[in-house]
Parts: sequence; C-alpha cells; structure tokens
Amino acid sequence: MNIVLLGAPGAGKGTQAAKLVEEFGTPHISTGDILRAAVKNQTELGKKAKAFMDAGDLVPDSLIIDLMNERLQEPDAATGFILDGFPRTTAQAVALDALLSDLERPLDAALLVDVDAEVIIERLTARRCCKECGYIGSKADGVCPKCEGEMYQRDDDNEATVRNRLDVYAKSTSPLIDYYKGKNLLVSVDGDRPVDDVYTDVKSLLKL
Ligand code: AP5
Repeated sequence: MNIVLLGAPGAGKGTQAAKLVEEFGTPHISTGDILRAAVKNQTELGKKAKAFMDAGDLVPDSLIIDLMNERLQEPDAATGFILDGFPRTTAQAVALDALLSDLERPLDAALLVDVDAEVIIERLTARRCCKECGYIGSKADGVCPKCEGEMYQRDDDNEATVRNRLDVYAKSTSPLIDYYKGKNLLVSVDGDRPVDDVYTDVKSLLKL
C-alpha cells in the first residue's frame, strides 16, 4: 500500500498508522517523528526545525521536500509506505507527485481522518507518548501500557500551540483535501469514534 494520511493535528493519524503497521508491517514514515528525532539529536535539520515546531508553525517546504526525497528512496519504502504528516502544503504534494512518478510508485489513496477542532484540543492537551517505544496514549496512562516506559508530553501539545497548529492546518494543509479529491484519491473516515471502529472503516476504505 502507498498511502497518505491527511487530517488535522490530533485527528488520530499516528494512532491509525500504528495499527496498520502492526497488522501489515508497512513502513510508517512520519515527518513529525523524523523531525523530533532530529531535534533530540541536535542535527543540522533539528536545529533549523526546532523553533518552527515549538511555535506550531510549518517547517519550510524546502527542508521537508529534501528530507522526504531521501527517505522515500530508502529500500524499505520500495515495499510500500504510510505517509503521516506529509504532504502538508500544496508545494509538498506537487513535489511528492513528481518523486513518485519518477519512482513509478503511484499513490493508492489519500485517507482523511476527520475530527472537529474542539475534540482535538481536548485530545492533544491530554496526549502522552512513550519515551521508549513511541506508543501514543493519554494522561490516563501512568506508564506505557506496551513496554512500561516513561510517558511524556510533547512540547507542542499545550493549548496555545495546538490552536496555532489548527489554524496552520486550516490555512495550509486543508486545501490538500480538494487536491486529492481532484485526483480521485481521497477517502474519508469519521475519526471521532472509538479507535478500533475507526480502524475497521480504514481497512475497508483502503480495501485491505
Ligand atoms: P506532527 O508530529 O505531524 O503532528 P500533527 O500533524 O500535528 O499530528 P499529531 O501527531 O499531533 O496527531 P495525530 O493525528 O497523529 O494524532 P494521534 O494519533 O497522536 O507534526 C509536528 C510538527 O512538525 C508540526 O507542527 C510542524 O512544525 C512539523 N512538521 C511535521 N511534518 C511537517 C511537514 N510535512 N511540513 C512542515 N512541517 C512539518 O492522536 C492524538 C491523541 O488522540 C492521542 O492521545 C491518541 O491516543 C488520541 N486518539 C487517537 N485516536 C482517537 C480516537 N479515535 N478516539 C479517542 N482518542 C483518540
């Protein structure tokens, strides 16, 4: 499967991607995860990206497009990919189309996980992630239910930054819904239901 996950911050893209990876083993390529690792390791990319991420703004297209051009040419991505958090602007979507056309690996679908903004603010301010295995949970999880690792709150999951991320999504990323509709690739799932119910529909929409 070659798919793009679309949806506002906190819609549940990472949660659904984790379930697809567990069942199908497809590589999950999350620009947010790659950037957070770069910030943690203080790489050149991480140093350039940090201020944008802390503010909830987008990292410049040129950095992201170069990063993804390299990542999508790594051997594991030849078997398929789940793109999470990329593309996020029309320029990124156009660059992705060009790269996939060169690689002769067309997209199968762009899956929109659809959730209202007010639900998202609640979800994101309560989100906690595992430092060890990356499990995505909530503040109800004292330790990671998968590996008992320490849970932490992302720097950009405070209410003010979440509101800015939602504004940025509305302005820069939501136009991609029409972009992929125009290519007959868009499928949409109501993400404001229990995780497993959403996942059942995700698989059916992706014909898995
Ligand atoms: P990124 O890491 O991509 O963040 P995001 O898009 O804001 O998405 P999230 O990871 O916050 O949410 P999600 O949809 O994966 O939700 P999750 O499954 O965790 O990007 C971070 C930053 O990096 C950006 O702001 C930007 O600066 C930069 N960046 C990244 N990519 C970029 C790009 N391409 N271009 C430029 N800049 C880029 O779920 C959220 C919570 O809800 C969890 O607690 C979860 O347990 C819970 N939950 C999930 N599903 C359900 C459900 N069905 N019911 C109840 N709770 C649920």
